[in-house]
Amino acid sequence: MVANEQEFVVTPWEVRGEIDYNKLIKEFGTELITNELLKRIEKHTGELHYLLRRKIFFSHRDLDWILDKYESGEKFFLYTGRGPSGHTHLGHLIPWIFTQHLQEKFDVELYFQMTDDEKFLHNPDMKLEESLKYTYENALDVLACGLSPSKTFIFSNIEFAKTLYRISLEIAKHVTFSTVKAVFGFENNTNIGMIFFPSMQAAPCFLPCILKGKNIPCLIPAAIDQDPYWRGIARFVAPKLGYYKPAQIHSKFLPGLGKGGKMSASEPETAIFTTDPPEVVERKIMNAFTGGRATIEEQRSKGGDPDICPIYQYYYFLFEPDDKKLMDIYMACKSGQLLCGEDKARLAIRVKEFLIEHQRKRKAAEKILDKVMLRD
Ligand code: TRP
Repeated sequence: MVANEQEFVVTPWEVRGEIDYNKLIKEFGTELITNELLKRIEKHTGELHYLLRRKIFFSHRDLDWILDKYESGEKFFLYTGRGPSGHTHLGHLIPWIFTQHLQEKFDVELYFQMTDDEKFLHNPDMKLEESLKYTYENALDVLACGLSPSKTFIFSNIEFAKTLYRISLEIAKHVTFSTVKAVFGFENNTNIGMIFFPSMQAAPCFLPCILKGKNIPCLIPAAIDQDPYWRGIARFVAPKLGYYKPAQIHSKFLPGLGKGGKMSASEPETAIFTTDPPEVVERKIMNAFTGGRATIEEQRSKGGDPDICPIYQYYYFLFEPDDKKLMDIYMACKSGQLLCGEDKARLAIRVKEFLIEHQRKRKAAEKILDKVMLRD
């Protein structure tokens, strides 16, 4: 729970306001990814992924320890997940794109949890069948990011409950109500499913250890809002169960197309969904807030403000991985050469191209979906 004078809030269920990521690091007690650590990663991956170079993945816990283990011949596994409450938007893809990169470069397995139980319990209008439906729908987006079908295991909490429940029980026994109240802000009117749920999200940190009968280091790439699960539950319980504490690498949030705030499915006009048709993408981008001036004359003479502009942020987070080209856009905007209309039109073309390709891969993923789903 973080709220300050500027009123930003980052919890697993709510992300709001202008986020001060440095403050978040202090409050959560995580560590900044230093340049030394980046150099160490680069030794294994070759040229650094733009998400690391640009510090979009910016914070961690025990990443240096994961590399120690890896360098001494002990491979880790990756764990990440999705709460299937609706269609996937572009912001969701960022941790998955990075997870795919890590999987490829380190040649490791990925365990991917779909918390359809959580979305059912948390959203008053959500039906069980509906969140389960989104598990399968969203899994196509996950696979479309290029994950290895032979090294990726996706599971629905509802459907894989038999295996997960035993692990969750072991975890839950060590976690009191007062702990989850403090960590997640649960109150007396929180339903009891939600109170148990954190042990379901912590369970995959140890799942491969149980499946394979040995202790295996775990690395979780995820947006920073998920940190309370690891800090408050998984890392606390791990030593009590005889496992390594899971390590984390945390990302920032893709902003929405409106003024300030992260991309959120609850504001559909400022979020681009992977299933949006081209004309919808076009409309949303053309209607976006920008860092532009009131008139063309003013823009030409004073320049725009890319730092507050979601259009620029889209290039930064997803659509212009080339640093030099990104800088060109930045300078052209700041100098008044580039007008918002043109900037938006160019981005719309990029996003539409990206989505055509993504939708093609999504379709192709239908064939492998069954193979990667864990069931019990
Ligand atoms: N609770 C997450 C959400 O609502 C989904 C999730 C489960 C997850 N396990 C995870 C996210 C591990 C990141 C890492 O989106």
